Amino acid sequence: MKVVVAESAGFCFGVKRAVEKVYEQIQNNTAHKKIYTYGPIIHNEQVVKDIEEKGVTVINSIDELKEIKDGIIIIRAHGATKEVFDIIQQQQLTLVDATCPFVKKIYQIVQEEQKKGKHIIITGDASHPEVQGIRGWSGDEVTIIGDEKDALQFALRKDKPVCIVSQTTFNYNKFKYLVEIISKKGYDINVLDTICNATHQRQAEAKKIASKVDVMIVIGGRHSSNTQKLYEICKNECNNTYYIQTLDDLDLSNIKEDSYVGITAGASTPNNIIEEVHTNVRKF
Ligand code: F3S
Repeated sequence: MKVVVAESAGFCFGVKRAVEKVYEQIQNNTAHKKIYTYGPIIHNEQVVKDIEEKGVTVINSIDELKEIKDGIIIIRAHGATKEVFDIIQQQQLTLVDATCPFVKKIYQIVQEEQKKGKHIIITGDASHPEVQGIRGWSGDEVTIIGDEKDALQFALRKDKPVCIVSQTTFNYNKFKYLVEIISKKGYDINVLDTICNATHQRQAEAKKIASKVDVMIVIGGRHSSNTQKLYEICKNECNNTYYIQTLDDLDLSNIKEDSYVGITAGASTPNNIIEEVHTNVRKF
């Protein structure tokens, strides 16, 4: 059996940085302050469980945040709305901002563009925390476009200029396609491809591997948007594509002795999980 693991599989720069920031806080917390993360630090249950066991509490809403009178709040890799940052400041809590710099860059873009009077379009998944965060920095004139239907339905006064940005982990081909639909509507549009490089590389490599293997395994958290995209991309190339969170989800009966197997993983999948899957597939 031949097994190939994507070189780009696993923690991206932003996820690695965010996780490291949490462990740094745990280690250096000599004042014994309570540590919170606003939302799960990354979309990986194993990592979140580990930091919870080390005393970190995950909060999930503004209401919960408002209840906190003292402590350290770590903003996750996906970022948060401006309101969240403002509340942390108003309540004089300690802020540790682990928002990925590529996401922060989008906050800066949408703030500048809305000041120029533009309507902001974010291509992405409206329920994803990153997209909700970007929306929170975009002012009142903002639309989220997740699919073809949204793009076709999009309508605005013709004299309103539009700026299009994307969720960092969006599928690049889908982004291009949605931009194409909106461009045909005749608005004054500027398009900023804010899909991050790590995502570009990961998707391109996954596509290439999936196109030549018999079985493709995509590893990542259930709620990880970038893993879901990877799965879609791989499934398009290879019918036998399986989405697993850990080795326990892998049904080895789908793999034959002489199968050519490809493995990739989302940006928030720790290396030990990838290695465990790799070792077991090889042994099998
Ligand atoms: Fe940042 Fe890109 Fe990772 S935006 S969190 S480096 S997928």
